[in-house]
Amino acid sequence: MSPRTPLIAGNWKMHKTLAEAEALIGALLPRVSTADGVDVAICPPFLALQAMVDSTRGSRVQVYAQNMHHADHGAFTGEVSPPMLDELEVRGVILGHSERRELFGESDRELALKLPAALQAGLVPILCVGETESERDAGETERKLRRQVQEDLEGVPESRLGEVVIAYEPIWAIGTGKVAAAEQAQEAIAFVRALVADRSREQAERTRVLYGGSVKPEHAAELLALPDVDGALVGGASLDAESFASIVAAAV
Ligand code: PGA
Repeated sequence: MSPRTPLIAGNWKMHKTLAEAEALIGALLPRVSTADGVDVAICPPFLALQAMVDSTRGSRVQVYAQNMHHADHGAFTGEVSPPMLDELEVRGVILGHSERRELFGESDRELALKLPAALQAGLVPILCVGETESERDAGETERKLRRQVQEDLEGVPESRLGEVVIAYEPIWAIGTGKVAAAEQAQEAIAFVRALVADRSREQAERTRVLYGGSVKPEHAAELLALPDVDGALVGGASLDAESFASIVAAAV
């Protein structure tokens, strides 16, 4: 039995106005209220964070942000800081999602600053890593994962490594409907855990490693049963209360 509590996190990306977010959380809460033994998180857009924290208070659903700057404050137009999220009682934050890396130029160097800043502010980071289709075809998957995990976690003290959640998200599987095969997911996730173990075997046993990329209710149970998979980061299927709740149920 793994000592790790599974985490199912819904990444809403740039979906849901405030009114739509209220409707979604209203439909979701009763559907996940009995899901014992699994952590459930939603990651709404910044503007819905406060409302979602209020709506989920006292429930089992935690609220995470989708990004943040590493500095506490400063002249960084358009950015949001770790203490600002913490003040709202946001529980954690997705960092280094492939859309941020690819569309907004987020670098491993920046992530190396963001990871310790999140922990410092009391936020649980979900660090996203993963290879493109051409990297996989060229046999570069492990090299890519090694670089991302090593560089992005560089600033995290060894004693806190186990607090970081890592989401293995093959980029070719995100939003494409092309979910990774079970063996591919298990192999890559075990490799990610081994990379953490290179720094601390003990912390690697605590580290939750999630799978992300086209997770749908149909194949959630198979993925979540894999020995090293500690949950899922869910995009599209988290926008519908019914399908997100059935993915949560598959983790129980
Ligand atoms: P998807 O997105 O489930 O829609 O593929 C996953 C993600 O981007 O985190």
